[in-house]
Amino acid sequence: MKIGQLLGVGNTASVYEWGKSKVIKIFHDYKSAMYEVTKEAKNAKIINKLNIRAPRFSKIMEYEGKTCLIYEKVEGPTMLNYIETKKYSVSYYAKLLAQIHFEIHQVKIDISSNLKTELSKNITNTEVITESERKIVLRILETLPEGKVLCHYDFHPGNIILSPNGPIIIDWLNALVGHQLADVTRTYMMINSNALPPNAPTWLIERKYRDLFGKEYLDEYFNLSGIDRITLDEWLVPIFASRISELKGKDQLEIINNLKSAIKNQ
Ligand SMILES: Nc1ncnc2c1ncn2[C@@H]1O[C@H](COP(=O)(O)OP(=O)(O)OP(=O)(O)O)[C@@H](O)[C@H]1O
Ligand SMILES: [Mg+2]
Repeated sequence: MKIGQLLGVGNTASVYEWGKSKVIKIFHDYKSAMYEVTKEAKNAKIINKLNIRAPRFSKIMEYEGKTCLIYEKVEGPTMLNYIETKKYSVSYYAKLLAQIHFEIHQVKIDISSNLKTELSKNITNTEVITESERKIVLRILETLPEGKVLCHYDFHPGNIILSPNGPIIIDWLNALVGHQLADVTRTYMMINSNALPPNAPTWLIERKYRDLFGKEYLDEYFNLSGIDRITLDEWLVPIFASRISELKGKDQLEIINNLKSAIKNQ
């Protein structure tokens, strides 16, 4: 089979057409590709067994010396690219994102919780926070509930394809089992931060639209779930802390500063 046109570029990988009905996901980082591919394939198989709108995973394969993933091709733009730089569009899709997120969180999964353990590992390994900050963060994490719902943990508009058959959720590399508010806090943090994905659309670059998206997303999620909004603040500290090692430069500095303020507000 021949590689076709480039369909999309994310932070970790590029995705190309692979024949007529499939795609190939090629990770940017050659060194970590093997680890990431194995992890994502394992998650994709689990997700395909559940009743979730996700592309069918086909197989792992070698392409030009790199280990890659083959998936079913999903037609349509991502929500990220489809949103117009207009209030009604930003507001409509923010609510839709919350509705799809809430829907995923209703899926029952028979795997023990691993989200808090994963956060704890990341926080323990993060080099750029002080030992006293680390202690505070880990203590706060300990007090938070485990939860046992399916969390995508990279749930943003770039990971939703608006297909003719409805929204399809892609990119399950980070999926975990844990508390739904950890997943919601992570999404809110990504929407709210200044970090931009490759080829960011205008609405995301303009702060007022980004703020509106975050507000509408949270309002809709808390409306649907009936959960007390105050609980989100408790999750901010460990979610910020475990994000730090994923970022570099000014994007990393922003999250470190957010962490310091969140600790002060506790
Ligand atoms: N099955 C698919 N069918 C069609 N297009 C796809 C498919 N999977 C991914 N894409 C396109 O490729 C882009 C990158 O894919 P993906 O989200 O898996 O990469 P990533 O680098 O892990 O993203 P992130 O920035 O969220 O970490 C998507 O935003 C989408 O445009
Ligand atoms: Mg993605």
